[in-house]
Amino acid sequence: MKKLRVLVVLHPDQAPPESAEGYTEQEALAWKTGYDVLSTLRAAGHEVKVLGVQDELKPIRAEIESWKADIVFNLLEEFHGVTTYDQNVASYLELLRIPYTGCNPRGLMLARGKDLSKKLLSYHRIPVPAFAVFPKQRKVRRPRRLGLPLIVKSQSEDASLGISQASVVDTDEKLAERVTFIHERVGTAAIAEQYIEGRELYVGVLGNDRLRVLPVWELEFGNLAPGSNRIATARVKFDVKYQERRGILQGPADDLAPELRARIKRITKRISRTLELDGYSRIDFRLSADGIPYFIEANPNPEIAKLEVFAEAAQQDGLAYPDMLHRILTLGLQRAHSAG
Ligand SMILES: Nc1ncnc2c1ncn2[C@@H]1O[C@H](COP(=O)(O)OP(=O)(O)O)[C@@H](O)[C@H]1O
Ligand SMILES: [Mg+2]
Repeated sequence: MKKLRVLVVLHPDQAPPESAEGYTEQEALAWKTGYDVLSTLRAAGHEVKVLGVQDELKPIRAEIESWKADIVFNLLEEFHGVTTYDQNVASYLELLRIPYTGCNPRGLMLARGKDLSKKLLSYHRIPVPAFAVFPKQRKVRRPRRLGLPLIVKSQSEDASLGISQASVVDTDEKLAERVTFIHERVGTAAIAEQYIEGRELYVGVLGNDRLRVLPVWELEFGNLAPGSNRIATARVKFDVKYQERRGILQGPADDLAPELRARIKRITKRISRTLELDGYSRIDFRLSADGIPYFIEANPNPEIAKLEVFAEAAQQDGLAYPDMLHRILTLGLQRAHSAG
């Protein structure tokens, strides 16, 4: 690939140190993606510059123009501390006519709403859990069609914000309590979804028009405390010691029947198209005991640190880490090329 000037845009907390040496895995959590992307692209001969962005657009534009960046590597997940503003940053880059990696703003918007994405997909008869949205300052009444147990989440936040064992509720009292918790502590509307007992599967996708679906990956919950729900709480995702203690691992879901695997991959493509995702994304499912893969959420611009699900699945599919990053850059350049 031609050598590029790549401007990596991320939150200042994600900006990596010069060297990763001497840090624990837990300490590196915030910046390891930036570190992996930066060091790998530099090793591949690209010129790479990092720009920390929190609530100012001007530096993005100034840096693109003065440094003559070829492409922005977009690792931003929020702006002004608001996660739903990620789409606005992508829109801004689009208006600047600078190629950028990852998903386009429409895809970011459609995927963000945990209710909106499910409405769109159920039109295409893709299995989704039944759900109800509880806006703020509204009385919590469970619709009759919605049985218990339910899982209560933020309608728009990610990173398992507000998700713990108490999120799974089996009475109306607990439902009301947990909805209030989301309203007050996370500060967004809440969504309560039919709780799907089962396996947790992740499927990576690379592509704009032609989609490459990566091998199906699984989060294995190991030996959680007896009686715990097997869900990806914030602790399961981000507490390294807890993961080690409980044997929480991710790896290929090797034992799926070939027809089921093919079905999941087909559904994944349809989901990507329906939600207008491009670049790279990861679709998450819960596979119920009777073999139905329920769509849980779509993650455009998912985590791409070297040892996380997406990159590991790409590696197993024959795409080594530098090649995967090159593919992501190429997709950004191609989209800009085909835009009006
Ligand atoms: N309907 C559901 N049934 C069973 N488990 C769920 C359901 N929705 C979410 N979960 C569990 O909670 C985790 C986080 O939910 P998710 O919607 O992916 O939120 P986030 O965007 O914070 O990752 C999932 O990875 C899964 O383990
Ligand atoms: Mg998730």
